[in-house]
Amino acid sequence: MILLDGKKISQNIREGLSLEVTKLKNEGIEPCLAVILVGDDPASHTYVNNKAKASQQCGIKSLLYKLPSSTSENELLRLIEDLNSNKLVDGILVQLPLPKHINKNLIIESISAQKDVDGFHPFNVGRLAQGLTDGLVACTPLGVCELLKAYDIRVEGLNAVVIGTSNIVGRPMATMLLNLCATVSMCHLKTKDLSLYTKEADLIVIATGCVNLLRGDMVKDGVIVVDVGINKLPSGKLVGDVEFESVSKKASFISPVPGGVGPMTVAMLLKNTLFAARSRLRV
Ligand code: GUN
Repeated sequence: MILLDGKKISQNIREGLSLEVTKLKNEGIEPCLAVILVGDDPASHTYVNNKAKASQQCGIKSLLYKLPSSTSENELLRLIEDLNSNKLVDGILVQLPLPKHINKNLIIESISAQKDVDGFHPFNVGRLAQGLTDGLVACTPLGVCELLKAYDIRVEGLNAVVIGTSNIVGRPMATMLLNLCATVSMCHLKTKDLSLYTKEADLIVIATGCVNLLRGDMVKDGVIVVDVGINKLPSGKLVGDVEFESVSKKASFISPVPGGVGPMTVAMLLKNTLFAARSRLRV
């Protein structure tokens, strides 16, 4: 069994991105990412702080907006409008979840598709669904693809099972695997017999937020498992959605939690920001 070491791979990627930032700066472009957080969800605070810190470490300027949960939808829309029209801002990320009084889809659609470094805008989701691979796409599933690539795992022809159908992970993940010519099944918490699918799977990507949903008796020998779940146990320990002990005995490759997909997501955000910054050269 080989561990898919996202921590190590993401460090290599970030070193490469730093060099690209230097090149862009020599061409007079300072890549800049705006990160917006509304409210006081502690996990979200940790995520946005990590994103801002990672951008700075790689030479990308970061603007961090921490707004109170009382912020109105209109106030948030106005800030996004300002950032959309600011030529010195390349990427805009609004951390989810948003407070209930704010319409998430309205906010996502208000971000310029060219600055949508999360890849959540329907324009970018639609292009991905059309099989176009030259645009901004969601960071976590992109990170999974890059992690597999780093271990020379070819997805073409594999039976891939994606468990979880979120817009952030499951849906774009299934689309990316399909674009890489895998045979993709999408499962979720209403799937009648999950084992029926997972036992046939060569590759499983799971993102459900359910501890121990995938166990050793549900997979075949040699399976490749990517665990996107992040769950905090009452003890404070972080675990994924996979029962690591039993599944790792049968897997050929498996990603750990923490240290698997999480660091890859951040690296892909930086990659998307550089992609967006490079488009300044094209106008
Ligand atoms: N909340 C959980 N994951 C993400 C992500 O990738 N992007 C944003 N904006 N919010 C999230």
